[in-house]
Amino acid sequence: VAQKLEGFFHKYCIFVKVFEHVFLLEVAYCILIANRGEIACRVMRTAKKMGVKSVAVYSEADRNSMHVAMADEAYCIGPAPSQQSYLAMEKIMQVAKVSAAQAIHPGYGFLSENTEFAELCKQEGIIFIGPPSSAIRDMGIKSTSKAIMSAAGVPVVEGYHGEDQSDECLKEHAKRIGYPVMIKAVRGGGGKGMRIAHSEKEFLDQLESARREAKKSFNDDAVLIEKFVDNPRHVEVQVFGDQHGNAVYLFERDCSVQRRHQKIIEEAPGVSRNVLGVHSEKMNTRLQVEHPVTEMITGTDLVEWQLRVAAGEKIPLMQEDIVLQGHAFEARIYAEDPNNNFMPGAGPLLHLTTPPPDSFTRIETGVRQGDEVSVHYDPMIAKLVVWAEDRQAALRKLRYSLHQYNIVGLSTNIDFLLSLSGHPQFEAGNVHTNFIPQHHDELFPTKKATPHEVMCQAALGLILKEKMLTDAFRDQSDDKFSPFASSTGRRINICYTRKLSLLDGENIVDVAVSYNQEGSYKMQIQDETFLISGEIFNEGDSVYLRSSVNGTVCKSKLVILDNTIYLFFPEGSAQIGLPVPKYLSAVSSVGMQSGAVAPMTGTVEKVFVKAGDKVKIGDPLMVMIAMKMEHTIRAPKAGVIKKVNFQEGAQANRHAPLVEFVDEEAESK
Ligand SMILES: *[C@@H]1O[C@H](CO)[C@@H](O)[C@H](O)[C@H]1NC(C)=O
Repeated sequence: VAQKLEGFFHKYCIFVKVFEHVFLLEVAYCILIANRGEIACRVMRTAKKMGVKSVAVYSEADRNSMHVAMADEAYCIGPAPSQQSYLAMEKIMQVAKVSAAQAIHPGYGFLSENTEFAELCKQEGIIFIGPPSSAIRDMGIKSTSKAIMSAAGVPVVEGYHGEDQSDECLKEHAKRIGYPVMIKAVRGGGGKGMRIAHSEKEFLDQLESARREAKKSFNDDAVLIEKFVDNPRHVEVQVFGDQHGNAVYLFERDCSVQRRHQKIIEEAPGVSRNVLGVHSEKMNTRLQVEHPVTEMITGTDLVEWQLRVAAGEKIPLMQEDIVLQGHAFEARIYAEDPNNNFMPGAGPLLHLTTPPPDSFTRIETGVRQGDEVSVHYDPMIAKLVVWAEDRQAALRKLRYSLHQYNIVGLSTNIDFLLSLSGHPQFEAGNVHTNFIPQHHDELFPTKKATPHEVMCQAALGLILKEKMLTDAFRDQSDDKFSPFASSTGRRINICYTRKLSLLDGENIVDVAVSYNQEGSYKMQIQDETFLISGEIFNEGDSVYLRSSVNGTVCKSKLVILDNTIYLFFPEGSAQIGLPVPKYLSAVSSVGMQSGAVAPMTGTVEKVFVKAGDKVKIGDPLMVMIAMKMEHTIRAPKAGVIKKVNFQEGAQANRHAPLVEFVDEEAESK
């Protein structure tokens, strides 16, 4: 007999009678998190802190993900597509029963605003952590929520949402509202079927145009009329209520800066507190993505509040106890390409380092180095949340921390977030929803050539890394990479010069490197000469390069991956390509003949091909890891794969043939 006493902070007890003995078993408080990624991890962190057991659900694509690793228990609920997993209500409900979860936290997205699911939870006697289904329903319908807000005296954007679609009626309402007005398709989205009429003279033309587009895009030409707000801000107010009729207000957030109708930087409190409450658009009933900025300025844990309130407790703080302190920013780090209209991306996080988290710097993420950003879900990698005494200090901290967020393996918006947060108008707090289109040219500067000093640092990084690798792998007697030690140990007193070709974007930059005997280098690029010295060293999980370029000392994080040298400085980063990597060219004669060979001893991390596959020259065949570096093994020629000699996870020795090609001559005979 399992008996639930009251709320989920009270115990479930199981009485077991074995012959004459009665045992009392207590079941832990337990919540199921019906979500994935950073928000699932976020909820679990609070659950752990409160001593509440967390149960995760996951799709087949998320089997090895961070939220599964963090959970006390985890259940697979189906294939990758959300419809068959994170949106499959029945499956999630089944897991809730099997795991004896008393409550379900939906996170945001997925089922968080699904009335049917909230209803289902109620039927099954499981607490849905969120507002009652009736509230979700009312707030989800735009016209209903507007009616409720109007009735409560909340000022809403003036408009007409009526049935009468005659020209006369619409025109009359436009006049009443006052020009300029916005004509919007009722079914609209993504800016389709949307027109501005600045005066009565324009109205009918714009109306016709909006209708035409609406008809074409949504097969419905119904429109609504709203007051046009020029460069509006997107401001949210956080409120919190409990089941005892208490409610508190936790200030506001400004989430104006958006792209593709999605927010990218949020802050709290709002930057324009005096104009607050002018217009209201809608209401969300779930935990918002950007809730951490509110937590930072109020010193609260809203997930803890949610858990307590769902269990029937009162809101932990009274309104007068909620004090606004300092300023917080949240930057959303996405796998996307800002230069290609913010196209969402996916792929492996081959290298990932974050700023060190502390009580003023929160890294809300659901991925680790080595994980993949899946094509199936939202491409958000992390939310970086910072707090400081005032807006200026918080902004400085945000930029400092963004510089420490280094990702290699896929395109991210980190550089874009840096130019955004460094824009003078952003610094001044002049943010609005058209910020990115309005400041487009400054936010997307044309790429300048990398300074020669930085090219030298890249060359130095490469040389030192090579040296480290060859030192580790060389035969004692055979050190062909050092020009100063011959096999007999006699030092040769010449200056050894080597030409390195590096790629700066599309441009090849030749660096003539002279090895000086004392371990320094002279590098020449075009007609400039630099005296270079330096070292590489480990700090934490990362490799750093300390370089001196003509006496200027500089420290940067160094990652060499996939024929690219990445340098991350405290104020910027550089990506320098290697047209022909040294370690591959050193073995290329072997490679050209027999297939692809291991450039050094290491582990096969990923295999992309199998016997029978046809490949083009340069196609990736495998990824190997050696000395904490990844190497993509590429096809040295076009052909058909005969055999793959190593499986994922296997160890391959230096120069071992990894993949064999079908011998074309033999084949044609
Ligand atoms: C770097 O220092 C060397 C030696 O002092 C000098 O010849 C060279 O011009 C300097 N390079 C630059 C770019 O200033």
